Order: sequence, then structure tokens, then C-alpha cells
Amino acid sequence: MVTSATSKLLVSDFDSSVSHIPSNYVRPIFDRPNLSEVESSGDSIPLIDLRELHGPNRTEIVQQLAIACSTYGFFQIKNHGVPDTTIDKMLTVAREFFHQPESERVKHYSADPTKTTRVSTSFNIGADKILNWRDFLRLHCFPIEDFIEEWPSSPSSFKEATAEYATSVRALVLRLLEAISESLGLERDHISNILGKHAQHMAFNYYPPCPEPELTYGLPGHKDPTVITVLLQDQVSGLQVFKDDKWVAVNPIPNTFIVNIGDQMQVISNDKYKSVLHRAVVNTENERLSIPTFYFPSTDAVIGPAHELINEQDSLAVYRTFPFVEYWDKFWNRSLATASCLDAFKASTT
Ligand code: OGA
Ligand code: NI
Repeated sequence: MVTSATSKLLVSDFDSSVSHIPSNYVRPIFDRPNLSEVESSGDSIPLIDLRELHGPNRTEIVQQLAIACSTYGFFQIKNHGVPDTTIDKMLTVAREFFHQPESERVKHYSADPTKTTRVSTSFNIGADKILNWRDFLRLHCFPIEDFIEEWPSSPSSFKEATAEYATSVRALVLRLLEAISESLGLERDHISNILGKHAQHMAFNYYPPCPEPELTYGLPGHKDPTVITVLLQDQVSGLQVFKDDKWVAVNPIPNTFIVNIGDQMQVISNDKYKSVLHRAVVNTENERLSIPTFYFPSTDAVIGPAHELINEQDSLAVYRTFPFVEYWDKFWNRSLATASCLDAFKASTT
């Protein structure tokens, strides 16, 4: 029997009542996760200790970042300065949010990707042809005072926990952007300066258990539209990174973050640091929560390769300089795709 679409808006409101996934979640055979072929992360994703980033060993840590950014595009960080209590509160309140009754969660429902606070499902429900086994709350969180009013007020500690977390992660991002600028041989404030007024968004991804995880994705393979992404995940595996032609599972390590390079960093670094394909898979047993912080230029910023990284002999500009809003409109006008959004921003070769 083919199970068809349900009338529920969110996966979490029908997952426990089906033994097969609805047909609009089923991927064609050539586009399935092949979970038995996925490698376990082992040592393949670097773990960088940031404890000494601001001491005499800074150069060494910056060098580790340079290698991680250029060879992997993905790395984990510990001793990052975000307090364990801030992280625990964030995970707890996010879980509480998704465990609320349907009526409370759907209050924030919107299919419009331009809304600055919204609950939705899949990736871009208006554009996705096959749906993804994910619900999410997405919100803008910098400057906090511009958005906090519209954030959910239930659970009652939601705003406070989210503001504390977002502030602390932003401070970490700014330190990372300085160190990454340095690792490219740029002035420390180069990246920060070209991001205009800066923008920070968070997603709270909720992946319910899935009766047929081999047939669908939590999120299909994609590259992030960000400068960098800082991901917090709970203790359930699900994130996978595409490395050396294989999918590698990034298994959770408590109180570490996973950082990945996004498309804007790829442009600024003129392809020295590449945005990496990654995806989220689901499983039959456990719900999974992940909380990415997406760091962006403000929409009025103009993005392009750093002039210092371009010279006429051996390093031509790979990308043209473009208003960030042009990229942003392109990204949200489509479904999530493995093809890079950056092809449209290549410099002309004539
Ligand atoms: C994302 C993402 C991975 C995950 O939200 O862009 O890649 O593990 N999430 O949820
Ligand atoms: Ni992503």
C-alpha cells in the first residue's frame, strides 16, 4: 500500500502514526542515503582546541585552522568559550519547544522563507518536490533587540535561553572570523569588515524518528549559504559530510561544536576554503535535535574575493563581486540542491 500525504503540517504530528513514510517523502533509488556505505568519522574530521587561541600559541592554532579549512572545510572545536550551562539550557529549551502540543508549535508556522521567525517543515516547503523528514524553527538573532519580540514566548524560558546562547555563539564566531582571516594572511578584521552590519540566524532542527530512514533524508546533501556555520547537535548521530567521495558520519562529542565553511567564505577566500557538501539522515529509534548558527553578511553587504588573495600571475579572481542580496534571493528561490549556488557568481573568464 502506498501511504499518501497527510493533512498535518509538521512531521512530528504524524510520524508516530505511520509504519511507512508517505510517498512524497520517498527518494528515487539513485538518491537514497545508502546508510550501510557511510564511514564513521574516526579521525577524519579535525578537532581543534581553542583554549590557546589568545595566548602565545596563537600562531599554531591559526595554522591548525588553516589546514582544517583548506583540507576539510569542516572541523570540531572544544574549549570554545561558550559555557556548558548555556549549551545545556539551549538544548533543553529547544527540546521542550518541540515537545509542546501541536497547537502551540503551529502558531508560528509559515511557508514564507523571508519571515524572520517561523516554524516550518522539510527545507523550503514551497519549492521542495520531495519532502524532508525534518521540522524546524528558524529565527534571526542579531541584533537581538530587533527580533526577540517575535520569538516564541513558550516555553517561558525560550527567549532568555536563546538570547544567552546566541550572544555567546556570536562572540565565538567573531573570534573564529579573526583567526580565519589571519589564517588566509589577511588583516584580522578583513572578514568582519566586509560583512556590513552582519547577520546571524539560528535553526532548531527537529528530526522525528522515521520508520524508513533508508528512503528519505532529514536534509539532503547541500552547501550552506553562510560565511560559517556553527552547529550544536545532541547525542544522536545524523550529520554526514562528503569527503574523498564518501559520506562520513560526524558523531557527536559532548560540548563541542562543528564548524563548517559556507559559500560566502568560499568567495572571500577565492576558493582557498571551500564550502563542503553535507546532509542529515534520520533513524528509526531516536528523535534528533541540531541547532546550527548561520553567520551571514547583512543584506546590504557586497561580497567578493579579498584583493590580497588575487594576483595576475597565478591567482585570478574566481568570483565576481556581488551584492549579498543577489545570492540570498537565488538561494531561497529554490529547493535544497547539491549543485552549488555559486556557479552564477563566477568571474567571467574573458
Ligand atoms: C543545516 C544542516 C545538519 C544537521 O541545517 O544546514 O546542515 O545535522 N544541518 O542538522
Ligand atoms: Ni547545512
